[in-house]
Amino acid sequence: MNIVEVDIIKAFIRTCEDGWQQGWHERNGGNLTYRMKPEEVAQCQAFFTQPREWVKIGVQAESLAGEYFITTGSGKFFRNVPLNPAQNIGIVEINATGDSWRIVWGLENGAKPTSEFPTHFMNHAVRAAATDGAYRVIYHAHPANLIAMTYLLPLTDKDFTRALWQSATECPVVFPGGVGVVEWMVPGGADIALATSKLMKEFDAAVWAHHGLFCSGPDFDITFGLMHTIEKSAQIYMLAMSAGQGNIRQTITDANLRAIADEFGVTLNKKFLEN
Ligand code: 13P
Ligand code: ZN
Repeated sequence: MNIVEVDIIKAFIRTCEDGWQQGWHERNGGNLTYRMKPEEVAQCQAFFTQPREWVKIGVQAESLAGEYFITTGSGKFFRNVPLNPAQNIGIVEINATGDSWRIVWGLENGAKPTSEFPTHFMNHAVRAAATDGAYRVIYHAHPANLIAMTYLLPLTDKDFTRALWQSATECPVVFPGGVGVVEWMVPGGADIALATSKLMKEFDAAVWAHHGLFCSGPDFDITFGLMHTIEKSAQIYMLAMSAGQGNIRQTITDANLRAIADEFGVTLNKKFLEN
């Protein structure tokens, strides 16, 4: 038995491969983290190596003390994850104060967790708190159409939520709470981590202007599905705007949005509806 035969590791690797196949992960673009269940840690424990040194995260979340995360490596390519998991992903343990990680498996040959680990970590803290521990996945990708939208629309939660809801009928059902938007910031540090996690208190997804998208969810299917749905909607928006040279003849109205919400039993975030 090898750790890559453990179901949760298999599911993590499959998600990396799926993201690569979608074209969202050029070079080392994007990153994925998963907060492990105790039984999953137990399944992997036999494969843990000698723990390495503690490294400060740069942000702190006491609620995540003692948790274990599967994470992609910084500078690692999603397309290489299935070929060599131990060099491209790893498992880290969080210390008792919730401000440091140490590698207990994988990330071989001096690799480190993703440079966006501070944002992932803070997002995990707020999404877990908001969902009574149900949310376990944070996923960052570079989907081209969504990024292109950040050059066209005002960088507000309302403009992006409405444009995405109106560009595909299932969107208000998949993300009735809407999406948040983070203005352009330097990636990789504590500042963008705090700005993103502030939005993640309210939203399952946060757009990074001119950079990409963060999605959260309880499992890989739901989180990947959210990324996929948002990017598909962004693609339709860009196709319609391009073909129409900026002119839209008709769209999904607010009355239509309300009707969808009634039919599917979801509550739309009222601040994004007009009249
Ligand atoms: P990492 O290779 O450190 O995960 O960074 C990729 C990325 O997308 C930064 O935002
Ligand atoms: Zn990125």
